Amino acid sequence: MSDVPPEARLWDLMRGTMATKALGIAADLEVAEALASGPRSVQELARENGADAETLQRILRALASDGVFAEEAPGVFRNTEASDFFRRDRPGSWPEFAHLFGGAFMEAIAQMDPRTSEPMFHRHFETDFWSWLAANPDERRTFDLAMAGGKDRSAERLAALEWRGDEVVVDVGGGNGALLRAFLERAPAGLHGIVFDLPETVRDETALGDRLSFVEGSFFEEVPAGDAYVLSAILHDWGDERATAILRTIRAGASARSRLLVIESVIPPGNDPNGAKWLDLLMLVIGGKERTDPEWRSLLETAGFGIDEIEDGLIQASCR
Ligand SMILES: C[S@@+](CC[C@H](N)C(=O)[O-])C[C@H]1O[C@@H](n2cnc3c(N)ncnc32)[C@H](O)[C@@H]1O
Repeated sequence: MSDVPPEARLWDLMRGTMATKALGIAADLEVAEALASGPRSVQELARENGADAETLQRILRALASDGVFAEEAPGVFRNTEASDFFRRDRPGSWPEFAHLFGGAFMEAIAQMDPRTSEPMFHRHFETDFWSWLAANPDERRTFDLAMAGGKDRSAERLAALEWRGDEVVVDVGGGNGALLRAFLERAPAGLHGIVFDLPETVRDETALGDRLSFVEGSFFEEVPAGDAYVLSAILHDWGDERATAILRTIRAGASARSRLLVIESVIPPGNDPNGAKWLDLLMLVIGGKERTDPEWRSLLETAGFGIDEIEDGLIQASCR
């Protein structure tokens, strides 16, 4: 970072809003899919999806200047290593994230206001994020696909822990079950999983298999009993009061030996780059927060859990 001139660093940050929107448009128009079998003219791409050819050319040219697509002859674009990630069959759910960031997230972030900690998503859309998703099933589907991407590493982390071999593992707010499915593939055969989430999640229950079931409900009311509770990217969606309420719901149903496995970012001290420092601003507008190590400890202890270990984005805790 230090060899980037300070003005260039400022410009790179400032143009972020246009880059985010351009990526969202390219994802929504499925440009990477259209280029999957080779270079094509922008006129052809525009004709296929009803875009204005000149506008699309300018958007793709800007993206290509940062390595997303390449203009290999005037007005003719091809995929690059980066734009290939926007193809639907590639790992990581990049098109879904680009859609959300270039759409609803961007609209809410544009309302960010330093005078208040009020969730701006709520003010802008006149409803909270989860109710907005429930009212917009296409966005809910995109969100569930986005969250399902890239679960292998978390699944491996969970599978590497010690398991007795007959536990029930509840993924609280487990979305469409992608994490628990990936985990069970790597875990002892006697383990069973329960994916617990809101009824409106878009999921294929036939893909869950007989070791997994889906239970609908709200984690502010009751969660199914389990030997281990996984909370992946849940608590960061909520401020301390609501996050404590979720933990207390779990604590109320947990046995004395139940384990809590929290998969979240831990914001490091200092100025080093860290994705969670930026993701925290999205959490700010939807009403949550990313947390530091002391903040995680305090949150879990307040709700009746003791921390056994915090390492590399996995917080292991047990009932106290
Ligand atoms: C950021 S996503 C994380 C999904 C998944 N755990 C993962 O790691 O990809 C948060 C999840 O919490 C769920 N959620 C939100 N409010 C809930 C509630 N009141 N009860 C149960 N689940 C809820 C959402 O539906 C969503 O699937």
